[in-house]
Amino acid sequence: MEGERLQKTLARAGYGSRRSCELLIVEGRVTIDGRVAELGNRVDPAVSVICVDGALAATSQNTVYFLLNKPDGVVTTASDPHGRTTVLDLVTSPVRVFPVGRLDMNTEGLLLLTNDGRLAHLLTHPSSHIGKEYLVRVEGDPSPGAIRRLREGVMLDDGLTSPAQVSRVSEGLLRIVIHEGRNRQVRRMCAAVGHEVTRLVRTRIGPLHDATLAPGAYRQLSVSEVRRLFEAVGMTDEMASTMPA
Ligand code: URA
Repeated sequence: MEGERLQKTLARAGYGSRRSCELLIVEGRVTIDGRVAELGNRVDPAVSVICVDGALAATSQNTVYFLLNKPDGVVTTASDPHGRTTVLDLVTSPVRVFPVGRLDMNTEGLLLLTNDGRLAHLLTHPSSHIGKEYLVRVEGDPSPGAIRRLREGVMLDDGLTSPAQVSRVSEGLLRIVIHEGRNRQVRRMCAAVGHEVTRLVRTRIGPLHDATLAPGAYRQLSVSEVRRLFEAVGMTDEMASTMPA
């Protein structure tokens, strides 16, 4: 018989023992190339597109996408010479993934990790204009004038910031959406209008948000989330060839 038993491929992709992977198959939670799999199915891990609960399984040929809620104190680099916990320490993936962009060590919230270099490149490219939303706790309570400056653009040492969406949620708490990705941008913008940031949480990356993900937890993106992300960066043509229907 051709190919590898599906439960073996799934077990290698991190879905537990072969026995528990058999259960996933029996429960109808696994698809191969868009069709519900059955026990006994064999796959070619280099060709088949395998999904579990609608999310692509991390088999070597698949591009995988994880959404992590980064906790405070974790670094976004792949390895840290000082031995601090990195975002890669938090994510168990049988294929090597890397973070898309970075959050400061003290910034919390959503971070995308993937092995899809093209998407990562498009998301982080200065021309991407993907909106990234932050909840920002600041010292003091920004005045309407300070909020207007944040919206219209503030002069930083690397130039004027682009227009941002800024609203006051409550005393000392702002919601800021920026479309650039400069180093420590939100912290520097707020400091420039006289309000140091005391807590920064990213709550949305383009179409991706998830208020139910606990700090330190992660999950795979669903196929429709990947689709929306591709659309947001203009990769719609790629979808047809690489994603299940
Ligand atoms: N802006 C910042 O200042 N820090 C981050 O981590 C992200 C955006």
